[in-house]
Amino acid sequence: MYAQMVKSTGKSVKSRDEMSAKEARFQDRIDAGEKIEPKDWMPEGYRKTLIRQIGQHAHSEIVGQLPEGNWITRAPSLARKAILIAKVQDEAGHGLYLYCAAETLGVSRDELTEALHDGRMKYSSIFNYPTLTWADIGAIGWLVDGAAIMNQVPLQRCSFGPYSRAMIRICKEESFHQRQGFDIMMKMVNGTEAQRAMAQDALNRFWYPSLMMFGPSDKDSVHSAQSMAWKIKMNTNDELRRKFVDQTAPQAEYLGLTIPDKNLKWNDKKGGYDFSEPDWEEFFEVLRGNGPMNKERLGARVKAWDEGAWVREGLMANAEKRTARMAAE
Ligand code: 3HC
Repeated sequence: MYAQMVKSTGKSVKSRDEMSAKEARFQDRIDAGEKIEPKDWMPEGYRKTLIRQIGQHAHSEIVGQLPEGNWITRAPSLARKAILIAKVQDEAGHGLYLYCAAETLGVSRDELTEALHDGRMKYSSIFNYPTLTWADIGAIGWLVDGAAIMNQVPLQRCSFGPYSRAMIRICKEESFHQRQGFDIMMKMVNGTEAQRAMAQDALNRFWYPSLMMFGPSDKDSVHSAQSMAWKIKMNTNDELRRKFVDQTAPQAEYLGLTIPDKNLKWNDKKGGYDFSEPDWEEFFEVLRGNGPMNKERLGARVKAWDEGAWVREGLMANAEKRTARMAAE
């Protein structure tokens, strides 16, 4: 299994005889399915990869609030507004769980935030696309949260304890996110001609960016092989992308919507859909900061961080005073 995983991603990782005794003992623990806890010995590369992945996951949750937050004041009913507010609040909570998991590895939230703001850390490419209509909020719940669930469910079994436990909690809430999005799409396709057209337009614009959420193709994945050897990642990018397409294509059919891919076709031999790859040039352009909304998203985050400085300073001053008082008692 281990050798097969490494082969499938094409990138080699340290072989057993290249490992130190400590690294080999660590790998034995991983291979035995043990959970690694913050105070356990771990290779520096394991710690760094976790900080990178968990930190970027947390940034994605926080930045991911912006596209949907844009529609809270314009939701078509009080019920939809309440559901959307609950979802956006959930995403904030997911970000906090994940920042807490990252902090157990010795990095502070301020350091992670600074790395986001200066471009050393990323957030998911999907959040650099605009939400132009209410149907986009349905497409985000259905497709983006659907893709997030596909990617996050295996992470519940990840080898790092705090990340795995955060994922168990987050996955429970994601299911509600996906259902409410699909429900919006159901309402739209059963509405007027204009509403159906709006739903189709949202699918057209969010389909390929949702496929990009799973990362570059396996041959271009930098981290997959090592992350899978360390069970930080349980599946390759392409495996999860394929599973997402196989699950979502019948849902689009049920909605009476057309996935914008003329190559999408059921392949009996492989027991799944053939489909077109996303435009990887567009993907890497978005990662380079040249997506439709990159500047607005990062600008909004930096502005919120700067404007919230007084709150953080007040809380810290109060905490320091309280600590000093307790120490004096
Ligand atoms: N957006 C931005 N960057 C991406 C990306 C994407 N969709 N896919 C890959 N990348 C980056 C990687 O971070 C890496 O860059 P780095 O070295 O600077 O970190 C580079 O592209 C190469 O990709 P790899 O495949 O080698 O990287 P990974 O092994 O880390 O795989 C991943 C990428 C599949 C996103 C993996 O990091 C992962 O599973 N992360 C945890 C889940 C996550 O972060 N999901 C993001 C969405 S969260 C969300 O949707 C919230 C929901 O509530 C809506």
